[in-house]
Amino acid sequence: VDEISFDGQVAIVTGGGRGLGRGYCLELAARGASVVVNDLPGPDGRGVADDVVAEIEAAGGAAAAANETVSTREGAQAIVRAALDRFGTVDVVVTNAGVMRNGYFEEITPDRLDLVLDVCLRGAFFTAQAAWPELRRKRYGRIVVIGSAGGMFAMQGEANYAAARGGSYGLMKALAFEGAEHGILVNALLPVAPGMSSMDAPVPGWETYAPAGLMERLAPFQRREAVTPMLVYLASRACTLTGEAFSASAGRYARVFVGLTPGWAAGDDARAEDVAAHLDEIRDLDGFTVPRNLYDELEAIADALGVA
Ligand SMILES: NC(=O)c1ccc[n+]([C@@H]2O[C@H](COP(=O)([O-])OP(=O)(O)OC[C@H]3O[C@@H](n4cnc5c(N)ncnc54)[C@H](O)[C@@H]3O)[C@@H](O)[C@H]2O)c1
Repeated sequence: VDEISFDGQVAIVTGGGRGLGRGYCLELAARGASVVVNDLPGPDGRGVADDVVAEIEAAGGAAAAANETVSTREGAQAIVRAALDRFGTVDVVVTNAGVMRNGYFEEITPDRLDLVLDVCLRGAFFTAQAAWPELRRKRYGRIVVIGSAGGMFAMQGEANYAAARGGSYGLMKALAFEGAEHGILVNALLPVAPGMSSMDAPVPGWETYAPAGLMERLAPFQRREAVTPMLVYLASRACTLTGEAFSASAGRYARVFVGLTPGWAAGDDARAEDVAAHLDEIRDLDGFTVPRNLYDELEAIADALGVA
C-alpha cells in the first residue's frame, strides 16, 4: 500500500481543539494537509483551536484556527471561509464537534436535547453544506461524519445523543448518495476512546448495565491514537468507498451496516395475525443484503414480489 499523503490538500476538522479531533488535526497536518482547526472560542475570542494550530506550526505544518460554533449556519460558513481565505480551497471535512448531556430519558429537558442536536447533528449538516459548493466545484471531496455506537447500537442514559448520532448516520448516507456524481465521497466513523471532555456528567448506569469488568479489560487499549488511522484513510485520496460506516476503537477496526432480510412476501391481503405467524421468516437473517440506498430496497421488494 502506498504511503497516504495529504500534500497540497486542505482539511477542516470541527471540534479539533481537544480529544480525538486534536489527534486528527495533528496527524492530517503531519501527513501534509493544511488544517483548519475549529473549536469554540474562549472568553477572549481565542480558543483551544489556537493551541492546536501552534502545535502544528511548531512541528513545521500549516494550520489556521476557526473559533466559531458549528451549530449555526453562519458559524459553519465562517469555518469554511477560513479555509478558503487562508488556504484557497477545501478537500476534506471532518464533522467531529460533539457534546453530551446525559441522563435517563425522562430527565432529558428540551434544552439538553437541543444542544446535543445543535452540535452533533445540525453542526455536521451545516459544515458539510457550507463546504459543498467548493467540493462540487472541484469535483473532489472526502467528508467523514463522526457518528457513534451510542446512536447505532444504543445504551442507557443518552437518548438525546443517540437520536443525534442516529441522524449522523442518515446524514452520511444522504450525502454519499448526492455526492457520488460530484466526486464527493462520504463515510462515517464511530470511535470509542477515552472520555469526552464536553459532557457535563457521565452517562449514568454503567455499574448497572455494563458487563462486569469489561471496561477495565478494554481500558488499556482504548488510546485515542488507535482511532486515527481509520479517520486518516477515510479522509484520504486513497479512499474509494462511500456511504459506509466504520467502528474504530482500541485498535479494532470493523464495518457497521444496516442490512435487510429477504423477508416474507405475503401479497397485499395479509392480516396482522399472518404477520405474527411469519415473524421467524420476516426476521431470518439468512441471505440478508446491505442496500446502498433506497432504490436497492425497492428492488429487493420487487424481487420478493416476483415483479423484478
Ligand atoms: N470519545 C468517544 O468515545 C466517542 C465515542 C463516540 C463518538 N464520539 C464523538 O467523537 C467526537 C470527538 O469526541 P471526543 O471524545 O474527542 O470529545 P471532546 O468533547 O473531547 O471533543 C469535542 C470537541 O468539540 C468541541 N465543540 C463542542 N461544541 C462545539 C461547537 N458548537 N462548535 C465547535 N466545536 C464544538 C468541544 O469544545 C471539544 O473540543 C465527538 O463528536 C463525539 O461525540 C466520541
